[in-house]
Amino acid sequence: MHVLVTGCAGFIGSHTVERLLRDGHRVRGVDAFTDSYDPSLKHENLRAALDDPAFELLDRDLVDTDADALLDGVDHVLHLAGQPGVRDSWADGFEVYVQRNVVATQRLLEAARRRGVDRFAAASSSSVYGDAETYPTPETALPRPVSPYGVTKLASEQLCTLYGTNFGVPTVSLRYFTVYGPRQRTDMALRRMIDTTLDGGTFPLFGDGSVRRSFTYVTDVVDANVAALTAEDLPHGSVCNIAQESTASMSELIELVGSALGRPVLVERLPTAAGDASRTGGSSQLAAELLGWRATVELPDGIAAMAAWARERRAVRD
Ligand SMILES: NC(=O)c1ccc[n+]([C@@H]2O[C@H](COP(=O)([O-])OP(=O)(O)OC[C@H]3O[C@@H](n4cnc5c(N)ncnc54)[C@H](O)[C@@H]3O)[C@@H](O)[C@H]2O)c1
Repeated sequence: MHVLVTGCAGFIGSHTVERLLRDGHRVRGVDAFTDSYDPSLKHENLRAALDDPAFELLDRDLVDTDADALLDGVDHVLHLAGQPGVRDSWADGFEVYVQRNVVATQRLLEAARRRGVDRFAAASSSSVYGDAETYPTPETALPRPVSPYGVTKLASEQLCTLYGTNFGVPTVSLRYFTVYGPRQRTDMALRRMIDTTLDGGTFPLFGDGSVRRSFTYVTDVVDANVAALTAEDLPHGSVCNIAQESTASMSELIELVGSALGRPVLVERLPTAAGDASRTGGSSQLAAELLGWRATVELPDGIAAMAAWARERRAVRD
C-alpha cells in the first residue's frame, strides 16, 4: 500500500506510521504541527519514521492545502488529523474544532471522491455517544454528544458516511475509546497522572473518581487501523467502535498507576468538568465481525508499559 496518514506526528498517527513502515508499506505523512500541545513532542514522535526512506513528511494544514496533491500516487487514506480534547471545545475554542475536525475532513473527502482511493479510514470517537443509552454501547445507539468536540467528531463521521453512500468513497469511521500508551497526548488524564506523580506533584481529578472509561491500548488501536485499511468487503460508510470492552473507573486507574510507579498518586479534587461523559464502554462485536479485531491488551499491562516508557524518557532527558 501507499498510505496517506494525516495527523502522522500525533500520538496515534506516529505509532501507526511506524507499524505501516515495518510492514513494508510506503507512507506519506501530513501534519500541521499545531499547538494543541507542544509541537516539539510531535517532531520527537516522528524521529524513527524519518530515518526510513519509505516515509515522506509534508508539513501542511488540511484546512487550506491542496488536498488533491496530497492524494497524488496514494491508494489508501488514514485520516487521523484533528483537534482533540473536550474541555477546550467550548466558547471561542469551537471554531478551531470546526475547522480541523469538520472542514478538513470534508476537503479530504472531496479530493478522495475526485481521485478515487481503495480505502478511506477516519478517526471518530466514543465522544459521539455522550452519556450512552446502554453499555457496552453498540454502534446503533443514538449519538448524543455532551461536548462541542463530540459534535464535530460526529459531523466528521457523518460526512464520511455520506461520501461513502452517495459517491462510493470506501470510508470507514473508527470510534476510538480513550486511547493510551507511550506518547499519549499531554492533555490526557493518564499521561498527566503519570507525569505529575513522577514529578512529585498532585494530579487534578475532575469529579469524584467514579467516571468509567474503556481504556484502549495504542498497539491495539494500530492493529485496528491496519485492519480498517485492509479488510475486505467492508460496506462503504461503515462505523465501528474500537474499544477495550473491560472498563475501569478513575479511582481504579489511580490505584493501578500508583502500583505501576511504586508511589501513590496524590490527588487534588476538582468539580466535574462540562463536556466529560460520565461513562464510556464500547461493544467491539461489530469490529470483530467487520475487521476481525478485538482488543488484546489489559489495562494493568498497558499501564505498566506506559509507566516504563515515561521513566525511560525521563532518564534520557535528565
Ligand atoms: N487519543 C484518543 O484517546 C482519541 C480518542 C478518540 C478519538 N481520537 C481521535 O484520533 C485522532 C488522533 O488523536 P491523537 O490522540 O493521536 O491526537 P494528536 O493531537 O496527538 O494527533 C493529531 C495530529 O493532527 C494534527 N493536525 C490537527 N489539525 C490538523 C490539520 N488541519 N492539518 C494537518 N494536521 C493537523 C496535529 O498537529 C496532531 O499532530 C484525532 O482525530 C482524535 O480526535 C483520539
